[in-house]
Amino acid sequence: MNDTERQVPKHVAIIMDGNGRWATKRGYKRNIGHLEGSKTLEKLGIYILNQGVKVLSVFAFSTENFRRSREEVDYLMNLFVEMFTKKFKQFKKENIKVIFSGRKSPLRQDVLDAMAKMEEETKDNDKGILNICLNYGGQEELIDASRRIALDYKEGKLNLDGLNKESFAKYLYHDLPPIDLMIRTSGELRISNFMLYQLAYSEMVFTDVYFPDFKEKEFDKVLEEYYNRNRRFGGN
Ligand code: FPP
Repeated sequence: MNDTERQVPKHVAIIMDGNGRWATKRGYKRNIGHLEGSKTLEKLGIYILNQGVKVLSVFAFSTENFRRSREEVDYLMNLFVEMFTKKFKQFKKENIKVIFSGRKSPLRQDVLDAMAKMEEETKDNDKGILNICLNYGGQEELIDASRRIALDYKEGKLNLDGLNKESFAKYLYHDLPPIDLMIRTSGELRISNFMLYQLAYSEMVFTDVYFPDFKEKEFDKVLEEYYNRNRRFGGN
């Protein structure tokens, strides 16, 4: 394959799965897996965005994850606050803009404040975008977009003939390019309500590696597989 064919994917998405199993396998509590996962995310995110990938979307917490034990949900929320206010400093230094996708309710106020701080501190950065999906659901995103579309229509701001794939995308949480490569770690073969609109023509790679162990070398292997795929977008 020649260099022009090896076009770096513009938008990469990762379902960061397997934190719990990574920890249990080592005799630790599940939460230790989330802590390790957050360290992996920081290094890997910078690595991926430094390769010319413009957007990296990661699934940090689904709307369904609120069904987990109180202890685990509390741990994750506290971890998010800690990461966004104290630990994720490298994103700012690396000129990476951090944004969030998902519903605000019922997130705690301190979590919302930490998210707002992270967004504010990195808003002028322009090397790449880290889109953290938190309290996110793909169906919920489409419902929320439909609501906004209905409102704009009612107020005469939208002409229905003008609704197409591009203008619809402007009603999503963020107007991001389509996902070129979606990776799910830990061996599960599902998309679990993740970015349904943006995944339409994505290449998907499923790896058995648990997320805390999904380091730079593992990403390189996935990227190699991506370059070997033949993307036809419905043509032949
Ligand atoms: C799935 O593993 C992972 C999550 C529900 C949380 C993802 C969170 C992180 C990677 C950590 C921190 C992220 C940020 C943005 C600071 P699982 O618990 O479902 O694992 P299992 O399938 O083995 O039980």
